[in-house]
Parts: sequence; structure tokens; C-alpha cells
Amino acid sequence: GSHDPTSLRTPIVAVLGHVDHGKTSLLDKIRGSAVIEGEAGAITQHIGATAVPLDVVSSIAGDLVNPDDFDLPGLLFIDTPGHHSFTTLRSRGGALADIAILVVDVNDGFQPQTLEALDILKRSQTPFIVAANKIDTVPGWNPNEDSPINATYEAQSDRVSSRLDESLYEIIGNLSDEDFSADLYWRVQNFQRNVGVVPVSAMTGEGVPDLLAVMMGLSQRYMKEEMEIDVQGPGVGTVLEVKEEKGFGTTIDIVLYDGTIKADDQIVVGGMNKPIVTDVRALLQPRPLAEIRTESRFEKVDEISAASGIKVAAPELADAMAGAPVRVVRNRELDEVVEEVEAE
Ligand code: GTP
Ligand code: MG
Repeated sequence: GSHDPTSLRTPIVAVLGHVDHGKTSLLDKIRGSAVIEGEAGAITQHIGATAVPLDVVSSIAGDLVNPDDFDLPGLLFIDTPGHHSFTTLRSRGGALADIAILVVDVNDGFQPQTLEALDILKRSQTPFIVAANKIDTVPGWNPNEDSPINATYEAQSDRVSSRLDESLYEIIGNLSDEDFSADLYWRVQNFQRNVGVVPVSAMTGEGVPDLLAVMMGLSQRYMKEEMEIDVQGPGVGTVLEVKEEKGFGTTIDIVLYDGTIKADDQIVVGGMNKPIVTDVRALLQPRPLAEIRTESRFEKVDEISAASGIKVAAPELADAMAGAPVRVVRNRELDEVVEEVEAE
């Protein structure tokens, strides 16, 4: 590619959708770990972030993603909970994303949180694609592990593939009812104008190569046009979770979506009553492909650039809140930064 990959930040991909439609399973399939098995009642209680480097994306996507065609360092996925009590967190997740995947169960179709997620995407003008998940549950389905969608389509009987088509066209119709012009992704020429629908199975991995290829294409275009930001400036992020960590006291898990944060930075964090002004004590990074919320072995780092999920240890964080803004002060006026945090 023509860009220096270090000058472009990792695109943030929010994964949204109705409860149980397969958001976590899809990410789980992508990262090849078993986070879902560690989840209480299979309901995701908190928003988590997972970094997937370009070489991993390309190894999963096979022929569909040639790493030489991309300047991006990879993708940062934010899993969001579909349960109705997480509306606010989910809208925050949606708001800080560059692009999104709306996961819809092909059999279950549009549900209340699907519509809610669409509304969030519409309001925040976030480009997105639809993952029509659980295609393996179409009766008579002949599974082809990790196969691109065209190959597995060819391996289905006419009856099975037309049943899938029916469900897919229902989803396309639902999108059109919500004023989104949508089509099967291989028929979409302009992803800025039309929503691509990608049939997938988080269980068998079918269609996952296509999903990653479309996400990379979408973010490459989007990042080039709009996202050549200053990755060296003072960091800006959002608190995902406030957590006690052995040996560190209260820590915050944040998604850094702009600039950098350093181990000796002063930061301002949105608090219960007023902004918290504090000094970073340690920056704790999960390894790539590890889930920040289940990762127990962290690596201390001196500095990290957007976009990334990072745990910040600092004094006085007890009143920090999930969803609150985080800003690095560095060479800026403290009062000005505090005002910005208060205004958010
Ligand atoms: P919440 O976080 O609670 O909103 O749910 P979620 O969207 O993250 O769904 P999750 O990944 O937890 O999956 C819900 C259930 O659907 C689990 O039992 C999964 O095993 C199952 N599931 C997810 N994707 C697929 C799929 O592609 N095929 C099949 N057969 N089952 C799936
Ligand atoms: Mg989940």
C-alpha cells in the first residue's frame, strides 16, 4: 500500500445486534478463543475490545484478503451486549465505532434490539454491514467449515439454498422498511450507498472470510477518506468498564480512539459527580487476540496509540463510570480538558 501503516489507526468495529443472535460467537470464531464458554449464562455483561492484527485477518480470509492491498494495522472489534438493560452502553459502543457489523439471526430475523441498533447506526451515521448469522441452522444445511460463502452455496441443494435466500430477502426487506437500501454483499457496488448483507455462521465459520474481507474493504476506504488523524496527539477515549485489579486497585478499561496515552500522562476521566484528574500509574495491555475482560496476564507498556483497548491503573478512579470520556492532558491546559470532559 501507499500509506505508512503506522500513520493510520486501527479502525474500530462495533458488533451490534439482538440478544443471542451471535455477536460474541462471531468474534469468538474470529479470534479462535473460547470467551463464550467463560461467560455467565452466555450473556455478555460488559463491552469488551479485541484487536485482530492484519496478518490474522488475512489468514482467516484466505484468498479474499491480500495483506499487500491494505495499509491498515488490523481491526479492533468491540463486542456489545444485546440484553435490553445495556441500551446506554450499547449506544456508546455504537457512537465510538468507525464501522459496525449488525448481527441478525437468519431464522429469528429483525427483533427489538436489531431495530434499536439500526437507530443508533442511523443517528451516528456509522457505515455498517449486516451479518446474517446462523446459516448452518437452515434445515438440510450441508456445512463446510470456514468456507467462503460462494463455495458453500454451491454445496447446498436447490431447496436449501432457496430457503436461505428467502430468509436473506426478508432481512433485505426489513432493512428497506427502515430506509436502508440493502442487497447481498456481492451485488453491492457502492458500500457507502448500500448496505451489504453477508450470510455467515459463527458456528461453522462459513462466510467469515467474506465478512472480514468486506470489513477490511469498508474500513480501508473509510480510513483513507476520513480517518488520517494525528495518531501522536493527546489520547481521547471512552471508559468501557471500571474494575478492581489485584495489585493495582481500581482500574479502568478504555477504548482509545484517538491519539496516544503514555505511562506518565495526566488524565481527566468522567466521574460520578465531577471529572477526576489523576496521573497514570501503569498502562496494562492485553496481548493481541486476547480478550481484555478475561485477560489476567497484562503487559506493562510505556505508550499506546489509537485504536486500542487498554487497562489504565491510576489513583482516585473509584468514582469513574462506564461510558465516561477519558482525555490525556499532556501539553494542554488542564482547565480546558476538564471543561471538555464535563461537556461530554
Ligand atoms: P448477547 O451477548 O447475550 O446479546 O448474545 P450474543 O449475540 O453475543 O450471542 P452468542 O454469541 O452468545 O450466541 C447465542 C447462542 O447462539 C449460543 O448458544 C451460540 O452457540 C449460538 N450461536 C451463535 N452463532 C451461531 C451460529 O452461527 N450457528 C448456530 N447453530 N448457533 C449459533
Ligand atoms: Mg454476547
